[in-house]
Amino acid sequence: MEIFGVDIGGSGIKGAPVDLERGDLAEERYKVLTPHPATPDAVADGVKEVVDHFGAEPSCLGITFPGVVTGGATVRTAANVDKSWVDVDARALLSAKLDGLPVTILNDADAAGVAEMQFGAGRDRKGTVLLLTFGTGIGSALFSDGVLVPNTELGHLELHGHDAEKRASTKAREDEDLSWEHWAKRVTKYLAHVEMLFSPELFIIGGGISRKADKFVPLIEGIKAEIVPAQLQNNAGIVGAAMSASRGLTG
Ligand code: BGC
Repeated sequence: MEIFGVDIGGSGIKGAPVDLERGDLAEERYKVLTPHPATPDAVADGVKEVVDHFGAEPSCLGITFPGVVTGGATVRTAANVDKSWVDVDARALLSAKLDGLPVTILNDADAAGVAEMQFGAGRDRKGTVLLLTFGTGIGSALFSDGVLVPNTELGHLELHGHDAEKRASTKAREDEDLSWEHWAKRVTKYLAHVEMLFSPELFIIGGGISRKADKFVPLIEGIKAEIVPAQLQNNAGIVGAAMSASRGLTG
């Protein structure tokens, strides 16, 4: 019984069968570019292409979405994909596209957090842990004694009159051609604000940028919480999606 995870991102849709014992990909992941505009139907075609690539019939599929998802099914916000996603029953849409395959869908940062708490940087960590993904936007996953509080959306906190992710995401660094030092200052201000609100014991820095953590984490100063890069790096979403799908199946 193979369980697949698929991660829908602002730039790519990537997926693979997942080994849930090891918390890792069972095969090399496959990626297609996110269509533009990223409408529900076009994205669902991309997900199907990723699943079909493996030529196997998965038993179920977990999918991450870069917005609020309630009830394992319904999209509520779409900051970085086409607005026509809002209020779509993504579980029904994607399951229909995949010939009735059982599908679980959840927020991308929440999925990454679930995987990191089980297999990565958050393993055995109690208290308040916050995973923040820095990519096209900023995603957040809040855990209290290992239990997820879903859909926290801390990337949209207001910072100096701006939506925080517009200032401190990886996209902002690239679009404005910021030096690591300059960007690290913005990330520091953001973390200080989040710390003031939640006093976490641990920040886990996720998203593609976690591969380059050595370039900016040492530049972050004055934060009381421990700050560590995610260990599953960019595969955390795929693994966490598959974990959530398997939990859905076993009830
Ligand atoms: C969305 C979040 C998402 C994050 C990372 C934000 O713009 O609102 O739901 O987790 O981007 O993709």
